[in-house]
Amino acid sequence: MKLNLKLSLALIAGSMMAVSCGGSGNSSESASSSSAPAAPEPVKEISLEEKYKDDPIFIRGVELMKQNDCPSCHMIERKIVGPSYADVAAKYETTEENVEMLAGRVIAGNVGVWGEIPMPAHPALSEDDAKDLVRYVLLLKK
Ligand code: HEC
Repeated sequence: MKLNLKLSLALIAGSMMAVSCGGSGNSSESASSSSAPAAPEPVKEISLEEKYKDDPIFIRGVELMKQNDCPSCHMIERKIVGPSYADVAAKYETTEENVEMLAGRVIAGNVGVWGEIPMPAHPALSEDDAKDLVRYVLLLKK
């Protein structure tokens, strides 16, 4: 009896293997397409977020962004309602004059530099926070 049980278990296991082997034996088409030579891995570009994540200006900026509405119109590397931060960073050199000028525009609102859509004013934002936000934006150069 014991031997019979073992034997039948072996048979069941064997037939299950046969089923799974049969399945894969039938897939010559997909095998040939997947055996095409793999393209060499492109050098992966790191995101700007990755590049600057340890910079204190970046860390401070992320904190302020969370407390403000900027992310609803701006993304780091993609234009949504407003220009991407990377585009703004590429346009302006990081100088104290530019930081002040752009902080003033964030507080007062602005239109016409990037298109017809206006950026609303942010009167509740302090000048210091606006400057830290702009320093963060201008940091994000490629
Ligand atoms: C309702 C959408 C909206 C919000 C919210 C918003 N922006 Fe903007 N932002 C825009 C648009 C649109 C422009 C382009 C304005 C223009 O063409 O002059 C812009 C432009 C800018 C510029 C570039 C200004 C220039 O003159 O080149 C900076 C810097 C900026 N935004 C930062 C911020 C920061 C920081 C915040 C959060 C405090 C913020 N924005 C919130 C829509 C927005």
